[in-house]
Amino acid sequence: MCGIIGYVGRRAAGPILLEGLQRLEYRGYDSAGIAVVDRDGAIEVLKRRGKLAQLTNSIGVMPNGGSGIGHTRWATHGEPSDRNAHPHTSSAGEVVVVQNGIVENHRELRERLAQAGVRCESDTDTEVIPQLIALALQRGLDFSAALRETLDQINGANAVVAVWRREPERIYAARRGSAGGIVIGFGEDEMFVASDLAALLPHTTQVHHLEDGDIAVVGVDGVSVSSRGEPPRQPQPTEVGLDPVAVAKGSYRHFMLKEIHEQPRALSDTIRGRARLSPPTVLADELTISDDLLRAISRVLIIGMGTSLHAAMIGRWWIEQLGGVAADFDNAAEFRYREPLLGPGVLVVSITQSGETIDTLGAMREAEQRWQSPQLTICNVPGSEATRIAEHVIHLRCGPEIGVASTKTFTASLAALYLLACRIGRARGRLSEAELADRLDALLTAPSLTERGLSAGDACATVAERLRGAANLLVLGRGIEYPLAMETALKCKEISYMHAEGYAAGEMKHGPIALLDDSFPVVALAPRGPLFDKMLSAVQQVRARGAPVIAIGDEGDAELAELANHFIGVPPAPPLLSPFSLSPVVQLLAYHLAAARGLDIDQPRNLAKTVTVE
Ligand code: G6P
Repeated sequence: MCGIIGYVGRRAAGPILLEGLQRLEYRGYDSAGIAVVDRDGAIEVLKRRGKLAQLTNSIGVMPNGGSGIGHTRWATHGEPSDRNAHPHTSSAGEVVVVQNGIVENHRELRERLAQAGVRCESDTDTEVIPQLIALALQRGLDFSAALRETLDQINGANAVVAVWRREPERIYAARRGSAGGIVIGFGEDEMFVASDLAALLPHTTQVHHLEDGDIAVVGVDGVSVSSRGEPPRQPQPTEVGLDPVAVAKGSYRHFMLKEIHEQPRALSDTIRGRARLSPPTVLADELTISDDLLRAISRVLIIGMGTSLHAAMIGRWWIEQLGGVAADFDNAAEFRYREPLLGPGVLVVSITQSGETIDTLGAMREAEQRWQSPQLTICNVPGSEATRIAEHVIHLRCGPEIGVASTKTFTASLAALYLLACRIGRARGRLSEAELADRLDALLTAPSLTERGLSAGDACATVAERLRGAANLLVLGRGIEYPLAMETALKCKEISYMHAEGYAAGEMKHGPIALLDDSFPVVALAPRGPLFDKMLSAVQQVRARGAPVIAIGDEGDAELAELANHFIGVPPAPPLLSPFSLSPVVQLLAYHLAAARGLDIDQPRNLAKTVTVE
């Protein structure tokens, strides 16, 4: 974990590596480092605990050299420290490595190394890799063979990028399993290697993704890739269409704020061309899944992690109500180690903004290999691993999401789920043509609902100012707003470090109510809907315990406003669509809470944007 960059070419590698790492900062990290190789094979390694700026400021003279590798680390084995930061070197310093993933059997490998007289310097699992490669090189293997032999000894999914003193104009990159992808970038007389596209975009949009088991030898004039047992090949690059300008923060204080405000556009882009009213059709041109299959399935299982899991929970509502088929959700990390009963009759829908979350990928593989379940993934990163495992894909069209806390990919995932639910409902006869048209018509208002929700920014800032000193927060919702209560609490935890719990309001009296007193604020998500009266009575119970209530409900709802200590109004939404008007409000509330607390909103502590370890 977590970000990798590599360069070989005619320019000075150092500044390119540092700039590449800057573009990977959004993934979250706690230390950073680079290794630069000069023409004679001298390798200089510079690494520092903390932010990239600490590394950059510590560099007096930029090392000279036309190739090198860099890494932002998110600590898994061994504390964040200079010593544990990547790159890691073999004892004699001739092999230098950065890695994403986990060497699960590193203890056993360390013992093996100790028996061979090799002592590791760091506490990391990573260091065994350069040490094992160096041992294999001593036995006379060439570098590719030494790397392959080393990877064969390692358990766990890993991406490894290495340089070797003897071959200063080459970078080696290898991929085992799905610990984040490795993408090779093609330039003019220069080549790049990175863990994700964002780091490459200023330089090139011509790329090639490594597959599981590939080892790439990258030189100034191209790349040669070998897979196990096959002769090396020279892959042709493909063009990717991401706009580098979209990666910039613009005039916003934080990427998260920018991305919250980008939601109306991200929603329009995600819905565009997929919901047609006359004649009513949904996902008509692109969804490769057949209506016959949608009619044949007995169940839909939606999986994800974090914010994507909360999208899954909301998706279940729509797939049951609009799709007319049994639906369930599951946490991918739990699912993959249960004994879930699936089969070809269960459609597995995975949600993953990054397309690289290891638990979600693991669950997808389990569903595919063990149960032969048809799979559809909802994903924001074209070419990511999830889009390659799943046969059917709904691409979100959010552009890069940089803030670690997901926002626009959440609401866009919701739009994709709603479209899918409508498609299932039409295929199964649950929705008539006219009903489909009504539902799609309603969905087309989602961007403007979200836009109007954004106007609650000032109200959120005022409430956040009042809440900033609180130690705890309870967030209540019912029905389709219950998952959103969980998402609100997650956002508060992620960026404002406030202890927050999202609860189904009906569950409050079975425990959480014991916590309440005048120091324990409660947020109630209470737009008008079938369960409004029940929410109102939960709010009354909260008030009776003296806890301050922040109610978020329909604009002009005097009854709710009167009951609450603070009231934030949102545009009333058509049935089942309240998540689109409420999401920007709860995201802004969490954002302003973190801002009021003066925290690092785009890179919250201990979190990563792409979680490639279990
Ligand atoms: C990390 C991110 C979250 C995200 C979760 C799942 O924890 O910080 O924002 O919700 O991973 O990621 P995925 O890419 O699978 O949606």
